[in-house]
Amino acid sequence: MPEESIIVLDFGSQYSQLIVRRLREAGVYSELLPFHVDYTAVQALRPKGVVLSGGPASVYLPGAPQLPGWVVNSGLPVLGICYGMQAIAHALGGSVVASTEREYGPADITVDHPESPLFAALDLQQRVWMSHGDKLTRLPQGFHPIAHSPHSAYAAMGDEERRWYGLQFHPEVVHTVHGRDLIRNFAYRVSGCVGGWTAEAIAEQAIQRIRDQVGSGRVICGLSGGVDSAVAAALIGKAVGDQLTCIFVDTGLLRLGEAEQVIETFRNHLHIPLVAVNAAEDFLSALEGVADPEAKRKIIGEKFVRIFEREAQALGDVQFLAQGTLYPDVIESTAADRNVAAKIKTHHNVGGLPADMQLRLVEPLRYLFKDEVRAVGLELGLPEEWVWRHPFPGPGLAVRILGPVTHERAETLRRADAIFQDELRRFGLYRDVQQAFAVLLPVQSVGVMGDYRTYADAVALRAVTTEDFMTADWARLPDGLLQGTASRIINEVQGVNRVVYDITSKPPATIEWE
Ligand code: XMP
Repeated sequence: MPEESIIVLDFGSQYSQLIVRRLREAGVYSELLPFHVDYTAVQALRPKGVVLSGGPASVYLPGAPQLPGWVVNSGLPVLGICYGMQAIAHALGGSVVASTEREYGPADITVDHPESPLFAALDLQQRVWMSHGDKLTRLPQGFHPIAHSPHSAYAAMGDEERRWYGLQFHPEVVHTVHGRDLIRNFAYRVSGCVGGWTAEAIAEQAIQRIRDQVGSGRVICGLSGGVDSAVAAALIGKAVGDQLTCIFVDTGLLRLGEAEQVIETFRNHLHIPLVAVNAAEDFLSALEGVADPEAKRKIIGEKFVRIFEREAQALGDVQFLAQGTLYPDVIESTAADRNVAAKIKTHHNVGGLPADMQLRLVEPLRYLFKDEVRAVGLELGLPEEWVWRHPFPGPGLAVRILGPVTHERAETLRRADAIFQDELRRFGLYRDVQQAFAVLLPVQSVGVMGDYRTYADAVALRAVTTEDFMTADWARLPDGLLQGTASRIINEVQGVNRVVYDITSKPPATIEWE
């Protein structure tokens, strides 16, 4: 357990996760807990402060989530954000009403009490991000106004003696210019945190936890070629040495050169025992003639599990299976009120394991965000190039080959994709986009090359910028890069005569095409 934390109570805002991330970026451990969490679960985290998130409800309506009694009695500093502020007001005798004007988007606030530690060393005029329909018309007892905006008399309020604060705007979103500073001030100046949530500390704690869980048992870890499973394996390797065996399955659906890179990094660089399984034929024959995306995912997920079971049996006496599950996956799958979301895709590495599986799970990244995983990866000596690789889905190229998957089509896509990656790197833009790849479309179109008519495949390029992969925007790549990539693909990849660029954001599209 961490020495200190700030816990975030989730009232259902789409930004709740972001608050946790901002606190961790500031060097303070934080977890997102449901607003009705039991106080004993909270105490185990040794909190020094509590943040109340925003949320979609109206606090004065029947059934709306309310400020838990233990928060009032805990004596801990509190920061209420948007709905969180309204919940404080409603509980402590203030007044919250439906506003005649919804305030959504940027607003300029004026700080009237700059001596408040929450606003210490910040500008008196600040651009913030508002998103609310209700507003405070009377402050709760003991509170005084700290800042106002043209539409909110109480853009910020505080009870300095009690160390309770409320912000009507969202400090966790990037559009609030001093948002990070406000969160940092709450953690350090208001709550008295000392910090220390660094990559080194994260790695140390994770290693200790793995040792406690695994003891003298044996672990297998499936490597995908992505950063998550690599960091999970590196941590387990540090923790229990050769009790770990990594299994790398070449599905025939990997990116160009990926199999060689995985084997080289793990065997020769990290010195972690690695079993490489060439199952390309197996996967491709199981996928023969299958065009439906969900059917592809199910076939591939099932094949992976069976291969891991077989390899575990061959190794003998294996008790644990390691997975690179991340904190956002855990939040999405455990928060009851978030679980109602319609299923869009089957991500086979989250919850897709058979119920009768004998192996116990080791998930060293279960409480980490992607940026923390990368920092830990660097800390453990994973090559920089590896740590910054774009995510690659478990089902691999199968979900980027629209329509049936064949060896030839996988080869075509692999080569087109490698050219796109290559050009991105040549332009120095690989790390400016969070994911970029090529997709092989199930259409052929007419072209002219030399003096000949062609009738060949079309490739789509997809590049996105995103903070959390839940929403994403298409990347505005330079013309020269797109043009160079298109012309290289058509010249160098046989069977492709057209390249298109995907300009849809997520939503309404998803990042992958299947
Ligand atoms: P979508 O396409 O849902 O993808 O917008 C969001 C992120 O998840 C990745 N993705 C997967 N990752 N197994 C994975 O490990 C999967 O089955 C899977 N499907 C999508 C996708 O590449 C993007 O980063």
